[in-house]
Amino acid sequence: MRIVVIGAGGQLGSDLVEVLSSHDVVPLCHDDIEVSDRKSCEQLVHLRPEVVVNTAAYHRVDECEENPERAFAVNAIGAKNIAEVCERIGACAVFISTDYVFDGTKGEPYTEEDCPSPLNTYGISKLAGEAYTRLVSRHYVFRVASLFGVRGASGKGGNFVETIVKKARAGESLTVVDDVVMSPTYTRDAALLIREVLERGLPHGVYHATNTGMCSWFEFARTIVELVGLDVSVSPIRSESLSQRARRPPFSALESPVLRSHGLAMRHWREALRDYLAAKGHLQ
Ligand SMILES: NC(=O)c1ccc[n+]([C@@H]2O[C@H](COP(=O)([O-])OP(=O)(O)OC[C@H]3O[C@@H](n4cnc5c(N)ncnc54)[C@H](OP(=O)(O)O)[C@@H]3O)[C@@H](O)[C@H]2O)c1
Repeated sequence: MRIVVIGAGGQLGSDLVEVLSSHDVVPLCHDDIEVSDRKSCEQLVHLRPEVVVNTAAYHRVDECEENPERAFAVNAIGAKNIAEVCERIGACAVFISTDYVFDGTKGEPYTEEDCPSPLNTYGISKLAGEAYTRLVSRHYVFRVASLFGVRGASGKGGNFVETIVKKARAGESLTVVDDVVMSPTYTRDAALLIREVLERGLPHGVYHATNTGMCSWFEFARTIVELVGLDVSVSPIRSESLSQRARRPPFSALESPVLRSHGLAMRHWREALRDYLAAKGHLQ
């Protein structure tokens, strides 16, 4: 398959390029394409892809509140631009979305059947991106969450795991929110899952692509520190004390009965975290 990966220099995009290497992959970094610019997206026509995976996003969640125009330009209009070109050339459009399309009131993991109700501009703009993508005859929407990948998120300047390891190595005691629960997800695992869905040609639609299990950010940080073998204290705090600009869902763990029904399941986040830490050389 000829597969274009947009956001190829990013955390998930770089893993996708690697795990899809048995295919004819065309990696496009931000220097190569601007998704918010319709003319720039027209280059896809000449590349003749069978699949276009769009990982590009403006995902600094608090900044999106200050700059909704940019959030919509990249996350929604960007998806629209790609969706329209894909429909015209008969390509399959793949959009990477987020657990932040949910409001976090369910209290148990969200499935693909649950109704989105985002609480912030980032989530609203990504939900609009999903909707544009779903208008394409051949499409997949993969919702991922709380990503950690070897490359680190270029749009966020790293990832949570690296921040914790760095601070802990510096001997800083850590305070981490204990009232927000999510599904930490290794980008390599998400990339492998996406490859499997594409290769098996599963029915088009929305899939939740997170590692299994869930935890609070506090529990996640404590596990990182334990696995790396660092001797620092990690203390729980409440999210109100951070006075963040954007509201966030207090509980956004995802699960995928749909993937399970196709015999696919991602491993537990702890196992994935251990592999990530080993890949980064953090384990002795
Ligand atoms: N990170 C998370 O925890 C998380 C959680 C849930 C969902 N997601 C979703 O997962 C996807 C991948 O996230 P990630 O962590 O891999 O992000 P990332 O590392 O920031 O990668 C995104 C890539 O897209 C490029 N890009 C940004 N704006 C663009 C634009 N307007 N046109 C073309 N390319 C553009 C970036 O290039 P530059 O950096 O050079 O601009 C970067 O290479 C995103 O769609 C995000 O919304 C992420």
